Amino acid sequence: MASDALLKRLVFALNGRRYEVAGGDVDASTTLLEFIRTRTPFRGPKLGCGEGGCGACVVLIAKYNPMTDEVTQFSASSCLTLFYSLNFCSVITTEGLGNTRDGFHAIQKRISGFHATQCGFCTPGMCMSIFSSLVSADNSKRPEPPNGFSKLIVSEAEKAFSGNLCRCTGYRPIVDACKSFASDVDLEDLGLNIFWKKGDKKSDVGKLPSYTLGGGICTFPEFLKTEIKSSRDNLDDANITVSKDSWYHPRLPSNILCGGICTFLDCLKSGLKSSRDHLNDANITDSKQGWYHPRSIKQYYELVNSTLSGECSVKVVVGNTSAGVYKDQDLYNKYIDIEGIPELSYIIRKDGGIEIGAATTISRSIEILEQENNSKSSPNGSVVFKKLAEHMSKVATPFVRNTASLGGNIILAQKYQFPSDIATILLGAGSTVCLQVVAERRHISLEEFLEQPPLDPTTTLLLSIFIPHWISDTQAQTSLVFQTYLAAPRPLGNAVSYVNSAFLGHVCFDESSGDLVLSNLHLAFGAYGTEHALRARNVEKFLTGKLLTASSVLGAIQLLRETIVPTKGTSHPEYRISVAVGFLFSFLSPLAKGMAVPGKPFSISSANSLDTDDIYNLTLSSRRETTSGDEYKPIGEPMKKYGVELQASGEAVYVDDIPAPKNCLHGEFIYSTQPLAFVKNIKFKSSLASEKIITVVSAKDIPSKGRNIGSMSMFAEEPLFGDPIVEFAGQALGVVIAETQRYADMAAKQVVIEYDTVDLNSPILTVEQAVQNKSYFNVPAALYPKQVGDFSKGMAEADHKLLSIQVKLASQYYFYMETQTALAIPDEDNTMVVYSSSQYPELAQTVIAKCLGVPFGNVRVITRRVGGGFGGKAYRSFPVATAAALCAYKLRCPVQMYLNRNTDMIMVGSRHPMKAHYSVGFKSDGKITALHLDLLIDGGISEDLSPVIPSGVISSLKKYNWGALSFDIKLCKTNNTSKSTMRAPGDTQGSLIAEAIIEHVASVLSLDANRVREKNFHTYDSLQLFYPDSAGEASTYTLHSIFDRLVSTSSYLDRAESIKQFNKCNKWWKRGISCVPLIFKVEPRAAPGRVSVLNDGSIVVEVGGIEIGQGLWTKVQQMTAFALGQLWPEGCEGLLERVRVLQTDTLNLIQSGVTGGSSTSESSCAATLQACKLLVNRLNPVMNKLQLQSSTVSWDNLISQASQENVNLSASVYWVPDQGSNSYLNYGAGISEVEIDLLTGAITILRSDLVYDCGRSLNPAVDLGQIEGSFIQGVGFFIYEEHQTNSDGLVVSNSTWDYKIPSVDTIPKQFNVEVLNTGYCKDRVLSSKASGEPAVVLASSVHCALREAIRAARKEFADSTGSKSSPLTFQLDVPAPMTVVKELCGFDIVERYLESLSTMN
Ligand SMILES: Cc1cc2nc3c(=O)[nH]c(=O)nc-3n(C[C@H](O)[C@H](O)[C@H](O)COP(=O)(O)OP(=O)(O)OC[C@H]3O[C@@H](n4cnc5c(N)ncnc54)[C@H](O)[C@@H]3O)c2cc1C
Ligand code: FES
Ligand code: FES
Repeated sequence: MASDALLKRLVFALNGRRYEVAGGDVDASTTLLEFIRTRTPFRGPKLGCGEGGCGACVVLIAKYNPMTDEVTQFSASSCLTLFYSLNFCSVITTEGLGNTRDGFHAIQKRISGFHATQCGFCTPGMCMSIFSSLVSADNSKRPEPPNGFSKLIVSEAEKAFSGNLCRCTGYRPIVDACKSFASDVDLEDLGLNIFWKKGDKKSDVGKLPSYTLGGGICTFPEFLKTEIKSSRDNLDDANITVSKDSWYHPRLPSNILCGGICTFLDCLKSGLKSSRDHLNDANITDSKQGWYHPRSIKQYYELVNSTLSGECSVKVVVGNTSAGVYKDQDLYNKYIDIEGIPELSYIIRKDGGIEIGAATTISRSIEILEQENNSKSSPNGSVVFKKLAEHMSKVATPFVRNTASLGGNIILAQKYQFPSDIATILLGAGSTVCLQVVAERRHISLEEFLEQPPLDPTTTLLLSIFIPHWISDTQAQTSLVFQTYLAAPRPLGNAVSYVNSAFLGHVCFDESSGDLVLSNLHLAFGAYGTEHALRARNVEKFLTGKLLTASSVLGAIQLLRETIVPTKGTSHPEYRISVAVGFLFSFLSPLAKGMAVPGKPFSISSANSLDTDDIYNLTLSSRRETTSGDEYKPIGEPMKKYGVELQASGEAVYVDDIPAPKNCLHGEFIYSTQPLAFVKNIKFKSSLASEKIITVVSAKDIPSKGRNIGSMSMFAEEPLFGDPIVEFAGQALGVVIAETQRYADMAAKQVVIEYDTVDLNSPILTVEQAVQNKSYFNVPAALYPKQVGDFSKGMAEADHKLLSIQVKLASQYYFYMETQTALAIPDEDNTMVVYSSSQYPELAQTVIAKCLGVPFGNVRVITRRVGGGFGGKAYRSFPVATAAALCAYKLRCPVQMYLNRNTDMIMVGSRHPMKAHYSVGFKSDGKITALHLDLLIDGGISEDLSPVIPSGVISSLKKYNWGALSFDIKLCKTNNTSKSTMRAPGDTQGSLIAEAIIEHVASVLSLDANRVREKNFHTYDSLQLFYPDSAGEASTYTLHSIFDRLVSTSSYLDRAESIKQFNKCNKWWKRGISCVPLIFKVEPRAAPGRVSVLNDGSIVVEVGGIEIGQGLWTKVQQMTAFALGQLWPEGCEGLLERVRVLQTDTLNLIQSGVTGGSSTSESSCAATLQACKLLVNRLNPVMNKLQLQSSTVSWDNLISQASQENVNLSASVYWVPDQGSNSYLNYGAGISEVEIDLLTGAITILRSDLVYDCGRSLNPAVDLGQIEGSFIQGVGFFIYEEHQTNSDGLVVSNSTWDYKIPSVDTIPKQFNVEVLNTGYCKDRVLSSKASGEPAVVLASSVHCALREAIRAARKEFADSTGSKSSPLTFQLDVPAPMTVVKELCGFDIVERYLESLSTMN
């Protein structure tokens, strides 16, 4: 009976609590993440993307096999795992590892102690990925590790969280925290931490929070085991029941190990199956909707047939990870989980190979292939199985591989043309598949299967995949060769390949010629823009039996070019073809005589250089130098961050973690896809999702006294909704309201908008079109930067001139891990409370009040913490907060909006893209005499804060003495999303433009770029000329010494020499090195602060600044303890722990201002200091009195006495920087070394060294984190992040699939940072300097190094092939990802090389 397959009850454990849910009570489309976050008290797993692409939602899932009494556990993305697939499973979230009440887990404590969080939004997911890796290593049969360590090894530690994204930290400290568990770690190598201090004799594991082998957590509670064993069938009928026991913390006594691995097949064989069946026997009437889990093929077909007769939509699932790739466009009535069909889970070893059930996960398949590789039964498994396993380990992420099935992947490739890696490599290995087509079972080759029409699950099931053993034929004296390749933006996975391939063949020696000959070839290629992976049969035929020589390889490659034809519309078609060519060349060249093979023959012995063949597998290393001062203790101490354990344990409350108030509804924007049009009509498709719409709120719902306003700045306002005309693709048109956020998201997708463009001009989508139409924003004269000197005179002095050279810089999306969100709650008397994830609550309050038409005092905006902002949650947070408030106002109930990642990326806006043309004059020795810049900045549709961008660009550009500097800057108004300030706005682009000019001059003069840089460094006099209002005292100009120091500590000269040698010896790999200086102007702003002391001595502090991960609260906490401690000559112990920094509330503390521009921590500290001084003044007389009575006065005594004497124990101030401290310069320098692979364009940052002047750092650990994090964000901008739009300006890089921020495998292999203490300065807050933004700029060193490496490549191929084009003249725009690198190195270099060899022969 089909109804037998209906799941009527689900029982599972969450952090040791028992949950039981009736089958129909929770919608079958509910994900585990949604269930946890909305139906349980746990908020640890976060929603970062909903696509499996970020890791914020990672949890540990454990399954139990009652037959073997074994528990198997793995990490999984809870955003993709469907809730009902977890019957009789146990789930652990980070709260289950440790929490405030039960104590924190070693992972959480080490994350905290190694300063490995900033905004903390990624941290729970990081903890769970690390935990999962530790548990799985500890459960392995490896030898026991030394006491206090795990069985994990260092190289695995870095991969433990390779799928987890962090936008703040730059990963290095997380790597250190994770490595600290590794059995082979050298503790001395670990970074700055609170467990041991610099100068401590020995780093000792005993000083680290103790770790129990196995993780110390019971991942599968006893009660669930008992329940599974006893297969109870009389479960009660309650909808969701939680065990009545008090909180159960799943911590184990330290000597108990959870262990063992069981396959799902084993589980099926076990009593688990019977217990599930028992549940199904319950006498419950069938329902159309729900979760079905057939136990046989027969039952599956019965179910499908019964479904076909009814009118309902069905989704067949195994791991459901495909929902991360192809998002569900609508809801379904029925889900059929086929994982329980036994034939889909069989693993059968056969003589000729191995058959793997289609429902087997990719992780399990890797294990099986590795086992087979090691087993005696498959002597040749090592060639094929090992490579397959290695390649599969780069597919997706660990937490996706753990639930994604092998079969699901192949079906995606077959049905949806998914660019699968697995289909390609299995095709190359000559695999076959077994299909169930109704009553018939068919075995066909994978190749045939891929060529068939899309599989129809109502008739066909993929049962298994058979991978043959391939053996060398000793009789025929042939050896087996097998290789797989992929080119993807990230080396360790979490990025789909541009192209992949797998090559198999037998090779034998031809005695007469001495050459090798290939036979039995399988040359499979995929993902290059093909419908499915295919075999290049013509190339196979061509090569079979041929002697492998340069000309036969060339012939094969020429044929391949005709075969690999990406379908129309595929991005980077030329790139993909040339990489496919490169792969074939890599495979064939070692087999042919006399070719420069893509290995690295050159070995560098210099101690300062990285010397390895496999740079991707290099372990990360780092060095950090910081100096703490104890003059203002605890200021200057590298203290751990305030509230960091709360972040790690998932207890830190972000907006979406606030328990939804009663009757709370949820909203999602609908937006325009047209750039300029009248909206004629808005309709919704007839669908299940549309049925969830409660209402749609739009401009017509704005109260009569209110205005259509969604954002504003000091320059202008912008509308909340496009009404009646939309002015850019991505503009809000309304908000769909539904009962849950997921329903609202899904319903918003059903919208159909009719546009009309009659009588409208064409939209302006480029800066060139803006120039044509004179469409500009005004830049007020006071903000327009100042020119320096006389450009014509400077040009007249020049020996050489470069005229109107273009540099293009694209945009960058913020990619905060927490998307824009707000919760609005209507309150009495027409007031509104809005919890907003905002960097600027004060202005959010203004905008909301204007929109609702109420006095500002009627709106209270509260912000506790923000899950990453980077500028994107300043002005761009207002539309969400305002829309939520408007909806709440209209509906008279709480409304929450948590933008879906795709919507956020499309609507929110981004960094300013720009085009620059420079004309520069210079002397033959490299001294530049004049520079003129024509700059076109795309400001998007509204002013936002764009008029400040020109001054940012020019301020950064002025880091060199250009002699004379003139410019013409146009801030273009276009029909694109509004561009807003993003970390180091303008400075980031200005610095790159400056470096591009310097490098261009150096290349024209054939001089070392560093010499040209130094030649053009400012003297103190010219510094004053270029920065008249911020140059400061001569003694504070530290750039020269920083630069010299960096050049010497990083062994720049030696390394530059080694690189020359490396490049000479390596044809297919090139390296480059570059060093860039930094001058960054910081302008602290006024800020309020209030410090209050409660009667028990607790201290609460309110500041205007928002904690966005930059450590503001920590610095404020330190400042409070320091300042109030001034009442005692030696300071006061224990004050720090008494300080609590409060959330920002716009009605409690007014004039809070914006958190941005790097200086808010300083300003907030300055305000705190001033408020504390007031308190100290008030407390001093009390202190003096008490001291007369006793020589020692405690804080408690003092406060108790002061309170009895009615001293006002709350002090409020508004700190305003004085003339001397309202602007200063920050200095730093960075050197980066990169390596590029000329065949794929892949980039590896081998090493980056930074020296940064932090003045007297308020907290060196916090500042170091800011410097590292912003550098890596800069690397994203300069190298990896491609922000693309379609021809209507609609953002198409709108997901984790298309937009690749740096991940742990793309950061520098060696990353050294020195935070300099440059001493006393009266004009700054306790002599400190800002650290939040400037280091973004230093990442341009990676871009410059890349240019050097490409230059070397172009030189190599120009030399050897006699190319006429000058290898040195080329532009490297921003970003410069691997596709660009390859293009600049030459798409045809392999052919050119082979042709040159053929000619020589
Ligand atoms: C973040 C992320 C990154 C990824 N990166 C990569 C990558 O780098 N390379 C790569 O190759 N893949 C990648 N993938 C794809 C991933 O491998 C597939 O999503 C996964 O293997 C699908 O398996 P599943 O069990 O989750 O399938 P499901 O999502 O459950 O099902 C997928 C489809 O197949 C059907 N189906 C499943 N099994 C059968 C069967 N036995 N018979 C008939 N129909 C069936 C389902 O009905 C559904 O239509 C990535 C996925 C994600 C989410
Ligand atoms: S939210 Fe699940 S992986 Fe991003
Ligand atoms: S700390 Fe990792 S995303 Fe903010």
